[in-house]
Amino acid sequence: MVVVCPRILPGCRLSQITRLLSTKAASVNGTKVEVLGREYTGDHMTNVTPHLLSHIGRDLHLQPHHPLRHVAQRVTQHMYRQYLSPRGNPLFSVHSQLHPVVTTHQNFDSLLIPKDHVSRKKSDNFYINETHLLRAHTSAHQSELISMGFDNFLVIGDVYRRDDIDASHYPVFHQLEGVRLCTLKELYGTHQNMDAYHLFENGERTEDHQGVHSAEAARRMEAELKGCLLGLATSLFGQDTEVRWVDAYFPFTHPSWELEVQINGEWVELLGCGIMEQEILANAGVQDKIGWAFGLGLERWAMKLYGIPDIRLFWSTDLGFLSQFRFDDPATPVTYKAVSKYNPCINDISFWLPKDQQYESADFYDLVRSVGGSLVEQVNLVDSFTHPKKQLTSHCYRIVYRHMERVLTQEEVNDVHRKIEQEAASSLQVSIR
Ligand code: PHE
Repeated sequence: MVVVCPRILPGCRLSQITRLLSTKAASVNGTKVEVLGREYTGDHMTNVTPHLLSHIGRDLHLQPHHPLRHVAQRVTQHMYRQYLSPRGNPLFSVHSQLHPVVTTHQNFDSLLIPKDHVSRKKSDNFYINETHLLRAHTSAHQSELISMGFDNFLVIGDVYRRDDIDASHYPVFHQLEGVRLCTLKELYGTHQNMDAYHLFENGERTEDHQGVHSAEAARRMEAELKGCLLGLATSLFGQDTEVRWVDAYFPFTHPSWELEVQINGEWVELLGCGIMEQEILANAGVQDKIGWAFGLGLERWAMKLYGIPDIRLFWSTDLGFLSQFRFDDPATPVTYKAVSKYNPCINDISFWLPKDQQYESADFYDLVRSVGGSLVEQVNLVDSFTHPKKQLTSHCYRIVYRHMERVLTQEEVNDVHRKIEQEAASSLQVSIR
């Protein structure tokens, strides 16, 4: 289907827009906006586009072997190991499938973001309507999860911000949020004279702590938070990585910091964090705990970890990209190798499988690799059917020929392709169609 209007412009009536493009996951149709099975009525604030909505449901962070999932798994494993219950079970729960449409209350108000704060601007967010938007950060779920009784949790998900598109910005990216609430006992351990220890006191807000927090409780939370995050950064980027803390500001934490690491001589911001504003906890019904939170961008981590040069690559369905991350242990060290800039030559090959002999696609893949060598970038099974009368199964494979350093000529490709056909016929007993 053709996309007529790439962006629903301010002042452009929704009803003027015919059905543009829809995926199963999300669509705009007239004034109706549907996202993952939920329906909303658009209004003057609506600025989601069919193109943007087409990203919803891709769930890159949940796709097996996707680099973003590898990073999310490594962070999760670190948190699991770091915080265990007395019986040895992980304390943190993981929420990775929360609906991406949140209310303006969740995304802003629950986090004490002022009504006139710049981050609410229509030009910076994707609004579904006046009251709903695609979450701009995973922090949007903090308050609700705390109200539900969670004390230690991670939120992993896609987030949406209107921004320029370039090698390091894309309107959809992925964040991982961590929240931990501690009681007095958890923070200080059990002592004989517990009366001497406090989480709260009536004091002045300073650079180092909120007015309601005791200086000592704030100090301990800060030490725990920073220790946990330093451990995380060095376990992923290496024990010798140079790190530094930079003071920061977020409306929902105080004090707040950013963690930077030095990679190839350049300081890179890895995450934002801080001691949660006590008012957020109080509004969520928690009186006796103090909390910390952090949020990190999975793309940023994956780009630095694997040397991926462009954020748009994460959306690639090209196996030239994806196949480089096909490993089960997320801690497998890999360095991304650029997919060739030369145009691919694509040739299909179809054959009937042998009738009374075992056939495995993997054998064909091996054969293609050994005959085609470095000329072959990818091989994929694109069609399979069984002829009802002949009782024969046919497979069609698409072979992508592409060389890293030079343009391939059609003759050269045809030559290799013919060799693959001959070799398949003779060693796998298939009959070329
Ligand atoms: N939500 C913040 C962002 O998107 C990150 C953050 C999370 C900062 C939690 C502090 C605490 O930039």
